[in-house]
Amino acid sequence: MGSSSFSSSNAMTLLLGLLIVSSLIVVSASNFYQDVDVTWGDGRGKILNNGELLTLSLDKASGSGFQSKNEYLFGKFDMQLKLVPGNSAGTVTTYYLSSQGATHDEIDFEFLGNLSGDPYIVHTNVYTQGKGNREQQFYLWFDPTKDFHTYSILWNPQHIVFYVDGTPIREFRNAESVGIPFPKSQAMRIYSSLWNADDWATRGGLVKTDWTQAPFTASYENYNANACVWSSGVSSCASRSPSSNYTWLTQELDSTSQQRLKWVQKNYMIYNYCNDAKRFPQGLPPECSVNP
Ligand SMILES: *[C@@H]1O[C@H](CO)[C@@H](O)[C@H](O)[C@H]1NC(C)=O
Ligand SMILES: *[C@@H]1O[C@H](CO)[C@@H](O)[C@H](O)[C@H]1NC(C)=O
Repeated sequence: MGSSSFSSSNAMTLLLGLLIVSSLIVVSASNFYQDVDVTWGDGRGKILNNGELLTLSLDKASGSGFQSKNEYLFGKFDMQLKLVPGNSAGTVTTYYLSSQGATHDEIDFEFLGNLSGDPYIVHTNVYTQGKGNREQQFYLWFDPTKDFHTYSILWNPQHIVFYVDGTPIREFRNAESVGIPFPKSQAMRIYSSLWNADDWATRGGLVKTDWTQAPFTASYENYNANACVWSSGVSSCASRSPSSNYTWLTQELDSTSQQRLKWVQKNYMIYNYCNDAKRFPQGLPPECSVNP
């Protein structure tokens, strides 16, 4: 071995060290002060514990909400949520991606509260170019008010996947081949809110919010956006940093994930617009042919 290869392996060690340090920095960077703005609710949204915890609350006068500082064009977004405990009937906690304007794109998680002991509903929807009506709803296999659980959205050019604790619950495949626009050109922010929707949320609006239980509170931790940040028309992924892991950008569902998805759909799905022929007398929406 010549001395030149010795020094280049030293340089390699140094480089690896730097990469490890910088990836540690990225991992530990989750901080709500840095990542989001509390945008409404007049003090009902609070960032606590040096930025590690965020709480939203709702009382008769107002709910509250926050949004990400960054806009993104594709990404994998993880958030840990602990939903409103006890009697949460009538309340809705949202966590979604959305762009702006009449022809906006949107990818929604909404958590519909319930009476104590009765199950929450996880309501999902996908809007492309301003058009939604693509609801799927699920029960969960755990009590989402007892502990924090991770709710994730994977959004890449091939598909959108909704995950709960790493288990896919819904896949919305790119259906441009059958004429359905796919979200791929409008940057989106993460939004979250807690608000009163007792005109429709619980048993279709039959059960109203019990204001004697207010304030209602939902908690958030460990927001992680492994994503392409969009800024002044430029994507951060255009100049990919070698230390970042872009696996998510091409990630498909492997066979284990597909089996998990089937398990959720078989045992926990309570509504799928693609199974609702009555609602679409003209025929099911075209994307239903490419989406399970
Ligand atoms: C609330 O509980 C009732 C009774 O178990 C159930 O039918 C309903 O789907 C649950 N969730 C919501 C949000 O209404
Ligand atoms: C990149 O991320 C994927 C999924 O999160 C993981 O399985 C893989 O090991 C990671 N690769 C590297 C080089 O860190």
